[in-house]
Amino acid sequence: MSQLTTPRTRILGTGHYLPEIVRTNADLEKMVDTSDAWITERTGIKERRITPEGMVTSDLAQFAAERALERAGVAAKDLDMIVVGTVTPDMPMPATAVFLQQKLGAPICPAFDLSAACAGFIFGMSLADQFISTGAMKHVLVVGVELLSRVINWSDRTTCVLFGDGAGAVVLGPADGAKSASGKPRGVLSTKLLSDGALAQSLMIPAGGSVSPVTHDLLEQHRNKVHMRGQDIFKVAVKNLYSASKNALDLAGMTPDEVDWICPHQANMRIIDLAVQRLAVKRERVLTNIERVGNTSSASIPILLDESVRSGKVNEGDTVLMCALGAGISWGSALVRL
Ligand code: ACO
Repeated sequence: MSQLTTPRTRILGTGHYLPEIVRTNADLEKMVDTSDAWITERTGIKERRITPEGMVTSDLAQFAAERALERAGVAAKDLDMIVVGTVTPDMPMPATAVFLQQKLGAPICPAFDLSAACAGFIFGMSLADQFISTGAMKHVLVVGVELLSRVINWSDRTTCVLFGDGAGAVVLGPADGAKSASGKPRGVLSTKLLSDGALAQSLMIPAGGSVSPVTHDLLEQHRNKVHMRGQDIFKVAVKNLYSASKNALDLAGMTPDEVDWICPHQANMRIIDLAVQRLAVKRERVLTNIERVGNTSSASIPILLDESVRSGKVNEGDTVLMCALGAGISWGSALVRL
């Protein structure tokens, strides 16, 4: 994990894309035995975005990436690596990242997918940071993208109310000694990544891999869709989001008070509230969009970050603590001064 007194990598630009179809809690009330009141109280979600037929994961990634490249002032031809965090790829093989590479007109370079579920974007950022910090690479595109609506069992009320589609992206490049207006170094200050396979069974898409190649029977049982033990995830999410955030702060020698914004994975408002309470951070410094977007897994942090930057809420020189946890379970954090 990185721990740099002088950051060597910086976020040069951010972008996101949300498909236009909105599915509200009222829509879900017509599909399964649920209610707006239950979903709102237990999760904080009011609506989520759904991708129209014909559009695929690499399309969502492309739109987010183009916006990030434009903001960064970096041309696709100048990318040295493309990392796509996703658990909903275009297809099992090849990587969604190579379809994205093609769509962006990026040059021949390493382009690959990273499977760390909701923590995929944080894992990707940390990886990019290592390559840029050593001087091996200059411009790395990191995308978090999910088309979860295609792997949800829309007749399972315990999962279908939670998830949504979307993409977020950042372009990372050398910090080159950039400073904030108050003279503080801008860039990636620390990252922390962790996984614990002991809880692998808590959240999975059981069929479609080598364990259970897809059969007609398995399709009928929806075994190719998301299966989750929600309460297992809930408990560990609160604990680990807190500890990963604390780890990133400790590595950078900072306290929660010195952070301008917390940008947490948008899984569930109750998880966010409890983790933030433990960190003793004021609620007004916590960024959220879960009510409009739902849980978009690896896309959730870069979507929220870009929305917050574009709306002018989060500004150059602000310190942002990002933290995420998801299937695996895998979790992590990144502390960045923009
Ligand atoms: N509408 C109405 N009732 C429902 C629904 C629904 N959509 N879903 C479940 N219920 C019912 C259950 O059947 C149960 O009924 P019963 O008491 O008659 O058996 C009752 O509500 C309570 O169910 P619980 O599972 O105990 O509800 P809980 O308070 O744990 O909330 C939830 C469920 C929201 C899934 C919660 O456990 C959670 O948020 N877990 C975290 C999971 C998560 O965020 N996963 C995303 C991926 S991982 C990540 O991003 C961190």
